[in-house]
Amino acid sequence: MPKLPVPAPLRRPGKPGERRNGSNGDGASPAAEAAKDIGGGVAGWVDERTGATGFLTGMLYRKVPKGTNWFYTLGSATLFAFTVQAITGVFLAMYYTPSPTEAYESVTHLTNDVWMGEFVRGMHKWGATVMIVLIFLHMGRTFFFGAYKYPRELNWVIGVVLLILTLVMGLTGYLLPFDQRSYWATVVANNITASGPVVGPYLADFLRAGPEVGATTIQRFYAIHMLLVPGLIVALIGAHLYLVVKLGTTAPPWLKAARPKTAAKKTEVG
Ligand code: HEM
Repeated sequence: MPKLPVPAPLRRPGKPGERRNGSNGDGASPAAEAAKDIGGGVAGWVDERTGATGFLTGMLYRKVPKGTNWFYTLGSATLFAFTVQAITGVFLAMYYTPSPTEAYESVTHLTNDVWMGEFVRGMHKWGATVMIVLIFLHMGRTFFFGAYKYPRELNWVIGVVLLILTLVMGLTGYLLPFDQRSYWATVVANNITASGPVVGPYLADFLRAGPEVGATTIQRFYAIHMLLVPGLIVALIGAHLYLVVKLGTTAPPWLKAARPKTAAKKTEVG
């Protein structure tokens, strides 16, 4: 009788932190090594169920081009600034009232009476400026390093949308304290928007949400400022970072310029 093929033995699922195939020194990538080094405990438990370590270490240990320098940290710095804005914004929202009669009072109460209120408000206010400065510096870095060229054009376009959305955050946030400065700044910004070609008047009407800047405007700006635009920014940052990891970062231009010379030398020697 012909022999039936022997099935491969079933493998028992690995325990958190268990090492298989002699993990150390077997030539595995640093990412794989780090994933195995996660050990037991909570991290191991989560990793076994999600495989998150493989993804995270793959991302954090990915290879970057030679010549990568401090300018490459500007994108992460922008991300950090956005995270600080999101966290401080949640605390501000706990005390803020979006109404023309109560907005200013709620902000002064937060500033003067709430523990750390002034500090958190200051972080949010200055953080907005810091984020805008960082986003421009990051944009400058990608431009001068030629990182907008093929195949990264889409990431550049996503970046431009992120820049516009960040500026919209600044505009809509400025009205919220509803003091004289923020009121008149919004009136002026709205008039400038209305003077724009074709869509200008419609956009200004949409933002004002009524015949005058007032109660409806503040509610609309609040919804845009804390729900609509942050949601869009989070989704677009996700897409932006996905493309950064997928495509890798661009080498500094001076290294690219040096490459043909090296290649030429090698050919001469060879
Ligand atoms: C919320 C705003 C933004 C965040 C959080 C962000 C984050 C990042 C991070 C972390 C990187 C990888 C590291 C680096 O190169 O710095 C990156 C790369 C990149 N970003 Fe942004 N970015 C933002 C806005 C922008 C803007 C406004 C532009 C341009 C209009 C842009 C264009 C790019 C491009 C083209 C790359 C690829 C760089 C390369 O291949 O070397 N980003 N971004």
